[in-house]
Amino acid sequence: MEQYMMRGGKPLMGSVPISGAKNAALAILAAAVMTDDTVIIENLPDVRDINVMIGALEDIGANIVREDKHVVRINASSIKGLSVDYEYIKKIRASYYLLGALLGKYKKAEVALPGGCAIGSRPIDLHIKGFKALGAQVDVGYGLISANAKRLVGSHIYLDKVSVGATINILMAAALAEGKTVIENAAKEPHVVDVANFLNSMGANIRGAGTDVIRVVGVEKLHGTEYSVIPDQIEAGTFMFAAAATHGDVTVCNVIPKHLEATTAKLLETGCEIVEYDDAVRVIATNSKLTPTQVTTLPYPGFPTDMQPQMTVVLALAEGTSTVTESIFENRFKYVDELARMGAQIKVESNIAIISGVEKYTGARVSAPDLRAGAALVIAGLAADGITTVDDIHYIQRGYEDFEEKLRGLGASIEKVDSEREAQKFILKVS
Ligand code: UD1
Repeated sequence: MEQYMMRGGKPLMGSVPISGAKNAALAILAAAVMTDDTVIIENLPDVRDINVMIGALEDIGANIVREDKHVVRINASSIKGLSVDYEYIKKIRASYYLLGALLGKYKKAEVALPGGCAIGSRPIDLHIKGFKALGAQVDVGYGLISANAKRLVGSHIYLDKVSVGATINILMAAALAEGKTVIENAAKEPHVVDVANFLNSMGANIRGAGTDVIRVVGVEKLHGTEYSVIPDQIEAGTFMFAAAATHGDVTVCNVIPKHLEATTAKLLETGCEIVEYDDAVRVIATNSKLTPTQVTTLPYPGFPTDMQPQMTVVLALAEGTSTVTESIFENRFKYVDELARMGAQIKVESNIAIISGVEKYTGARVSAPDLRAGAALVIAGLAADGITTVDDIHYIQRGYEDFEEKLRGLGASIEKVDSEREAQKFILKVS
């Protein structure tokens, strides 16, 4: 079983290239089946979730050529099946984007019902509400969610809660519906805008993405395109928090600084210096003492829930008391017990973590409970005294491309090990 082993205590220094946004790419891959023409997608991150989505597309009959690690050519004219197996949904919830994509194009789709996950119960009622409003009949039963429509007709849809997934799924179906759809209280995340831009490059007529009212005028068909996915704001933020926790000096490159504003604002509050360039952000924490602060996760442009564990890891090293309030998912503090094994002092009361900063973490063996919390534990390990081993790194590999290589490029002592022998070798090397 693969693990990350690291010896902490070295400030991270240097520049790190940021890959394409996993969450944008997942939806864009699904949307690529909405035309019979060939679609080329560039800047795909080479991570597990993307490979699972590509597997799901191939499974329903799409023809996919991987031109290189980051570019795929998709032709969906050969699609035969409109049913997405549990095998895929169980690995990535985002396979449910195929529901909106296939329903839009074929007016029929069936996807295994996603269950809950490590961070909460994750309902899909708003997706269903949207499809029904467009005229689809949606049935849930026997572990499946099926949607059928004779025709999809544009509608006015109010989302009771801001949901990235529901906004994107409805957007895809509405792109090929008859007439006008208005989605109110839509999610404004950068990847919602990226999916809208992608669909528009295929001939869709979507306006207002990035605001809370999105207007879609349905078109009859979509055509092929060549499109490059936006940079991953969560990957970038993870390296920025790693810079802060290790008192380093790191520049994240190939990013859109605007997408990182909530992260930069919080790093400034914790005492880091930030320098923004056109497509890079530098975090300087070499001389700064970390100061405590308060943070609440919110939909974009608020502080992202996907950055909450990484922020907590930094605040647990700040001098004084901080609070982190999780307002999106109900069960996103599972990693706190692991962090406590490294010396953190954090008390969780309902959805608030009350953090009393400690001077340093101490290396320990910990387990990644999910993707982002796993990355946060690696950050803690890089800041810790001694050796840390992180188990269950398959979670981290879902969303971080070449994570350990990129960290090594910043001077970290980290290796992926796959056996007791390799673990011993690492310990000898760093001792
Ligand atoms: C996406 C991201 C995930 C991120 C999350 C919030 C992808 C693949 N995943 O997940 O990394 O953490 O946004 O930024 O892009 N909700 C409902 N009913 C629904 C749908 C959602 O009540 O039908 C609730 C959820 O339980 C949650 C909130 O809405 O409390 C936001 O969830 P949502 O934005 O939908 O998250 P995802 O799209 O699943």
